[in-house]
Amino acid sequence: MSSTSLKSRASSISEPLRVAVLVSGSGSNLQVLIDAMQAGELPIEIVGVISNREDAYAITRATDADIPVVVLSHVASGKRMGIKTFETHASAQLQDWQPDLIVLAGFMRVLSSNFIHHAIAPMINLHPSLLPAYKGLDTHQRVIQAGERHHGCSIHVVTAELDAGAVLTRALLEVNLKDTADSLQVRVQKLEHQLLPWTILLLAKGVLTLNTDSSDDANYLPALPLTLHIDQ
Ligand code: GRF
Repeated sequence: MSSTSLKSRASSISEPLRVAVLVSGSGSNLQVLIDAMQAGELPIEIVGVISNREDAYAITRATDADIPVVVLSHVASGKRMGIKTFETHASAQLQDWQPDLIVLAGFMRVLSSNFIHHAIAPMINLHPSLLPAYKGLDTHQRVIQAGERHHGCSIHVVTAELDAGAVLTRALLEVNLKDTADSLQVRVQKLEHQLLPWTILLLAKGVLTLNTDSSDDANYLPALPLTLHIDQ
């Protein structure tokens, strides 16, 4: 399936969506996808996982599930792997796996516009804020400092500009007076674990469609972002 063909997903719905996942850390979101796939709740096949950290627990999760893993460590042999080298290896690996969709789930390296534009499949990213607010790092701390009433997470199309691609879905919560950055991180992560499989389900079923043909824009059927309201 080419990078544009998620838009015609509705015609090939009987086949599982081939998903590659890029990770850097614990991989709890990856685990949710593995569990949903194994339970037959999500029509996907996780064709491979790429980690840019050799100490990421996500590697263990993928290995335990017999999913191919490639570690392209950004600190291999104590020497930082440049982004170009990382992207060259990652591209070759993705070509090999032929995913329909690339999911950045807690992937903490910034990818170049060249890599993004030439990716074999559309790429989506999970971000811990209600985009377009709070792009970048330390979102929970910044939300607390700003006295926001609402917070949450978003899934957006990856574009060359950081956390700026079209927002597909969001899940939100109310910030409590007693919340800290740590408590928000825990609460938002619970939302992520529902938002990510839900969003991928919508893509797999052809309810949400992506068109990565034209520059950084995407075209969709429903009015976006779709928002998930979850009681906590
Ligand atoms: C998530 O909380 C995500 O918002 C952030 O990184 C975390 C990844 O968690 N960007 P995990 O590796 O899926 O457990």
